Amino acid sequence: MPSPLSLADVEALRARTPGAQTVTHFNHAGASLPSSATLEAIRAQLWLEARTGPMEAGVTGREQSERARLLAARLLNARPAEIALTTGNSAGWGAAFAALAPLRSGERILVGRHEWGGNLAAMRLAAQRTGATIDVIPSDSSGAVDPQALEAMLDDRVRLIALTWMPANGGLINPAAAIGQVARRHRIPYFIDAAQTLGQLPIDVAAVGCDVLSGVCRKALRGPRGTGLLYVREDFLPRLTPAFVDTRSAPLGTDGEPVLRNDAARLELSESSLALHCGVANALEEALEIGIENIRARIDSIAQALRVQLAEIPGVTVLDQGREQSGLVAFNVAGLEPLSVQSKLAAQGITIGSNGVGYTPLDMEPRGLKQIARASVSYLTTEPEIDRLLNAIRALRGE
Ligand SMILES: Cc1ncc(COP(=O)(O)O)c(C=O)c1O
Repeated sequence: MPSPLSLADVEALRARTPGAQTVTHFNHAGASLPSSATLEAIRAQLWLEARTGPMEAGVTGREQSERARLLAARLLNARPAEIALTTGNSAGWGAAFAALAPLRSGERILVGRHEWGGNLAAMRLAAQRTGATIDVIPSDSSGAVDPQALEAMLDDRVRLIALTWMPANGGLINPAAAIGQVARRHRIPYFIDAAQTLGQLPIDVAAVGCDVLSGVCRKALRGPRGTGLLYVREDFLPRLTPAFVDTRSAPLGTDGEPVLRNDAARLELSESSLALHCGVANALEEALEIGIENIRARIDSIAQALRVQLAEIPGVTVLDQGREQSGLVAFNVAGLEPLSVQSKLAAQGITIGSNGVGYTPLDMEPRGLKQIARASVSYLTTEPEIDRLLNAIRALRGE
């Protein structure tokens, strides 16, 4: 287990992160800042492709893809054969959902109220086509999805439980493992959207009890845009028939019939950016070297400090729910639209996010929220950066 991150460690990591020199970044939940070594790994593969021929450079590139798969498996306590490399969270989640056997009329999908809007759209389209329904699992008084309420809703028509572990619109962390226990006990397929969780919180897929878990590499993992990971539990794999296949996922056998791969790569296609996979492998290696427990501990202390100080600014309301909280801090500033807060801060070189209802409709609508400002931290975030953000928000209030 690596030792906890000291301030000197953080400074050293920042020195190896070009963006840390040029922007005060509070949009790590949108996409974080890659290290120089991750950028270099991508660049090296692109140069190799340019110099030796892109297909010829594929030998080296594929080795790095497999390295990324191995490291991803280590990160999640999974087997490499249970990992598919994807192009983003929705690409992985959507591929797995589309690969399920078709829903039937009257069947039910149960979702937490923080479900990512994109996943919800996929589920609603499927429900419209088939006459299935989507029911929302009630939350407890902290706002988190309630495992007991889930248990009380179950019947033999439930085909899927879907949970977004860490919502995009604030700091709440859902009890993914407690939900997993219910899903396992009742043998109901369980999908987790871990877009914000991957690289931010230790994930042990065996302990969580999920069948499918999707993640994206550009956020807490600090990998390149356009990359993601998908975990599919080995025993669950036979229940996934990809919506479409190619020569990699289902090569034709000698009899001319397609032979579906028997690992999670049945959800991959033959063509992908091997240069980006090189970047992913490096980002995974860095995260594992730092230690996800250490990353979690630092993010937690920084985010809590930010929440407390933000809440002290007159006119600022911190909107985060949950007992256990992530590095995403949602807030609103009285008299200012979140989009305007975002653009005024951007003009000063401070980046934050601003989310509308479409990302988390089942949560924003009942809470009467139309848009939220979101400052999200990384283990790279420093106290002077927090001071800069807070001072800029105080000044906005003073305008
Ligand atoms: C919880 C959650 N799920 C899914 C996504 C979508 O990820 P992608 O853009 O990689 O498809 C996001 C993006 O912010 C997210 O926060």
